[in-house]
Amino acid sequence: MTMKNTAQRTSMGKTRLTLGRWLGAAFALYALAVLIYLPHASSVVAMAAGPDGGDATRGGEVFNKRCTGCHSLDGEKEGPRLRGVFGRKSATVPTFKYSDALKKANITWDADSLNKWLTDPEKFVPDNDMDFRLVKDDERADVIAYLRKLSSK
Ligand code: HEC
Repeated sequence: MTMKNTAQRTSMGKTRLTLGRWLGAAFALYALAVLIYLPHASSVVAMAAGPDGGDATRGGEVFNKRCTGCHSLDGEKEGPRLRGVFGRKSATVPTFKYSDALKKANITWDADSLNKWLTDPEKFVPDNDMDFRLVKDDERADVIAYLRKLSSK
């Protein structure tokens, strides 16, 4: 009688243990699947939004609204042409007359330098000739994504 009870209890304990292991394993698999899947999910979002969070399509609209008063993509206006500016060295369009300040600045235009420039050109390169600021963070990110896209052929 006593022996039987003990045996039953033991086998029930074993059953619980096994179930616990299964649940543990299932959870581990689930967690693993989430871990493997998540980076893909976020990289899909990142691809749509551009490497630094900007949206190139919206950036094109920002460019047309805010920059084309002084810039065009392929010719000189009050400011230099901007196609290919992403990755280009500052003040290197030969047909444009840059300020001495920008000629001496020696910047490579990337996401970081463009962001600083557009936030406050005067602070980034004192005495330059671009009298304009793009104050909204999302507009800067978008227009930078647009310029970047135009540079990647
Ligand atoms: C009010 C006129 C004006 C507006 C508006 C303007 N810019 Fe400019 N931009 C200039 C001028 C002038 C220069 C040349 C600055 C110098 O020589 O110091 C310049 C230079 C630049 C340069 C450096 C180019 C190079 O070859 O080194 C970049 C990049 C640039 N602008 C981006 C933009 C973007 C993007 C916008 C719109 C969000 C914009 N600018 C709006 C006048 C303007």
